[in-house]
Amino acid sequence: MPHSDTWIVLHGHASTLILEVVPGEAPLWCYWGARLPDGVTPAAVLRSTRPTPSFSPDFDQPFSLVPGLGQGWFGEPGLRAHRQGRDWTFQATDCAVEQSGQQVAVTLTDVAAKIAVTARLSLDPHSDVLTVSTTLTNQGHAPLDVQWLAAAVLPLPDHARTVRSFSGRHNTEFVAVEDQLTRSQWRRENRRGLTSHDCVPGAVVLADGCAYGAQLAWSGNHCQFIDWVDDGRWQWQLGEALMPGEISLAPGECLTSPEVLATCAADANGVAQNFHAAIRARMDWPGAAMRPRPVHLNTWEGFYFDHDEAALKDLADAAARAGIERFVLDDGWFHRRNDDTSSLGDWWPDDVKYPRGLGPLADYVTSLGMEFGLWVEPEMINPNSELYRAHPDWALQVAGRPLITARNQLVLDMGRDEVRDYLYERLAGLLNELPIGYLKWDHNRDLTAAGERPSFRRQVLGAYGLLARLRRDFPAVEIEACAGGGGRIDAGIARYTHRFWTSDNIDAVSRVAIQRGYLQFFPPELMGSHVGAAPAHATGRIQTMRFRNHVALPGHFGVELDLRKLGEHDLERLGEGIARYKALRDRLHRGQVWQGAGADGLLWQAHGTAEALVLMITRIDPQTQRHAPGLRLPMLDATRRYRIGETEYAGAWLVQHGLALPPLRGEDGLVLEVTAL
Ligand code: GLA
Repeated sequence: MPHSDTWIVLHGHASTLILEVVPGEAPLWCYWGARLPDGVTPAAVLRSTRPTPSFSPDFDQPFSLVPGLGQGWFGEPGLRAHRQGRDWTFQATDCAVEQSGQQVAVTLTDVAAKIAVTARLSLDPHSDVLTVSTTLTNQGHAPLDVQWLAAAVLPLPDHARTVRSFSGRHNTEFVAVEDQLTRSQWRRENRRGLTSHDCVPGAVVLADGCAYGAQLAWSGNHCQFIDWVDDGRWQWQLGEALMPGEISLAPGECLTSPEVLATCAADANGVAQNFHAAIRARMDWPGAAMRPRPVHLNTWEGFYFDHDEAALKDLADAAARAGIERFVLDDGWFHRRNDDTSSLGDWWPDDVKYPRGLGPLADYVTSLGMEFGLWVEPEMINPNSELYRAHPDWALQVAGRPLITARNQLVLDMGRDEVRDYLYERLAGLLNELPIGYLKWDHNRDLTAAGERPSFRRQVLGAYGLLARLRRDFPAVEIEACAGGGGRIDAGIARYTHRFWTSDNIDAVSRVAIQRGYLQFFPPELMGSHVGAAPAHATGRIQTMRFRNHVALPGHFGVELDLRKLGEHDLERLGEGIARYKALRDRLHRGQVWQGAGADGLLWQAHGTAEALVLMITRIDPQTQRHAPGLRLPMLDATRRYRIGETEYAGAWLVQHGLALPPLRGEDGLVLEVTAL
């Protein structure tokens, strides 16, 4: 379908974007915001009507889809590349626009620099998520060194005020940080070689009357910044952070960026809902559709490395009795793996702990009606391993530099075919021999000197390639992405996986904030949330089973403790928690999510649809007021009536005045079902 001559217009359900097409130039950003009526276009074209300010170049260069360098645009460029110091400026001399429905490809060619850049945009009318990626082609006769290629360059309006991003560390993921947007650049860059615990590759920008969100679908280094544009707007760029010399494109070679998912909605909840819809649409489930998320038992905190087949069978018995549906054997099962100092790479069962292999335990688990899952950490190698003794050169290293270990381990060079083939053979062998329905795929360290030449990108592509090969050959197996808890949670790896391990911290109080941050970007059915032991291993704090159940409820529910040690009272409460999760999981995991805060520290989240919601109310600290004010529920329809428990309410009352709540103690919660009448 041809685009209109002057404008590229894409409408979503609630958002619109407009670019001005200028022959021979990069299209100019005119608008990205709330839905405009069909047919509304800018009142004037930017190219020929914008006055030239004093002491400025006579050629005016407004903010474009791919801002250039050195040709009259003084803001951040969308591309930094050169051929040994030459051909460093970029300005399109030709522009070809292809539009087909909601998809647009804009190819910009610079005949002087011999570079072509294709930006692909596609706005999904259902989720209102714009997917953007960029391809750079070296059309010259010499290699092109690339320092930066924005995956997306997005416009933010002059009324953008605050950026909410997420920081953290191991055991404390998704710490929300709010920064005021000023004329100084806002920037977050991650050089840890994987998604990272401390730099979520996305953010939410709060503007007057609306919110914007963007996230990079990539599991490696990344960078995003928001920079003031001197027409009062802002530009938001996201892309892969490239290390010096990492990308040199041979003549004719291309570099395609990861995708950015971006959206504009009424508020941060709208942004989350749109992201959830877009990620759901990208999922590749076994059997093409998500089945109800099975209740997990994970052996890690209950057993650590101390595997004993008879004890694990007892655990399986207890798990089956408690209503658990999937039994995941975590770290500690493979050759000589008795602590974290050895054996990564030696992916065969330890013959001391499992003299007859894993078959008897796996068969026992499946005979009880549970699925059997297994933990692996394929990209890693311990110096103390058979694999390292055979192939010391397979570990990423730089000659003359020390091998920097983390948790006593090094990282395999996933760019090498023989490394990926070895891992494939080992994993495929296990998947062929055992009734494995699930892999927990870990990555427990950051990358340091990743190769003689920086090969961070190769590393990510190598891991994706191995995952894709296993998914193709074992399509029924689900995979969980884990990296020391939540170090690899992103929309890139979500293409190959089916669950995120949100955090190694399963203290229910800590989990409240972690999970709220997570839900800004990813849907609840992918959020691993476990009931752990009391005291919690990560913090030493003790919480009631009721509260632990409450906090684990909205995600993909699991249990991570030695069930054999639970007292009768806790076992009964846990059974109630599991039964409630099973009863509600379809509604928790298939609808929309709203989150908010009431007065006096009360937190709430609602999952479901306009017709039927599961409302979860959480109090961490004890109430400070004698009488709690009503909890206002802004997501309800003021014109309808609702039933909550036995009582009927006018929607307007719940929206404007709020729901009266019984007193809640500290570390307590309520789950209510809200049904529209
Ligand atoms: C990481 C994971 C844990 C567990 C251990 C095993 O820390 O996040 O859940 O699997 O590794 O070593």
